[in-house]
Amino acid sequence: MMVIIGSDHAAVELKKAVIAHLDEKGISYRDMGTDGEPCDYPVVAKAVCREVLSENTMGILLCGTGIGMSMAANKIDGIRAAACSDGYSARYTRLHNNANVLCMGQRVIGTGLALELVDIFLETSFEGGRHQRRVDLITALESEE
Ligand code: RB5
Repeated sequence: MMVIIGSDHAAVELKKAVIAHLDEKGISYRDMGTDGEPCDYPVVAKAVCREVLSENTMGILLCGTGIGMSMAANKIDGIRAAACSDGYSARYTRLHNNANVLCMGQRVIGTGLALELVDIFLETSFEGGRHQRRVDLITALESEE
């Protein structure tokens, strides 16, 4: 699996920790920035989400709260981004929502918890079944005026 990752300046330290964690687990990743210079989180969200869609894989977006990244990411058709700060949400947003982007906030959660959420998110599969219909209904909203 190839994970696409990005952060703004408010979450560079968390991004380094997540990257080290992915390295330890032998999971390949593509880092779309920032390297630390101040930037606008929607720009990074767009770059990461475009890669997630073209590689048909998962993304991780990090900012101060995780919320701005999730708001920007969810504007992009095909992206289902979830801002998570607990394990239950990280698990169920994969099981039920088939989320393809995990968003977290460096100013909200500690590094240990964030790494746990990464593991849960990447290791949990979508349940399908009745949840597929609901995810399809989310997708249908993209073409409504
Ligand atoms: C940057 O200061 C901060 O606004 C950003 O990282 C994020 O928290 C926005 O949602």
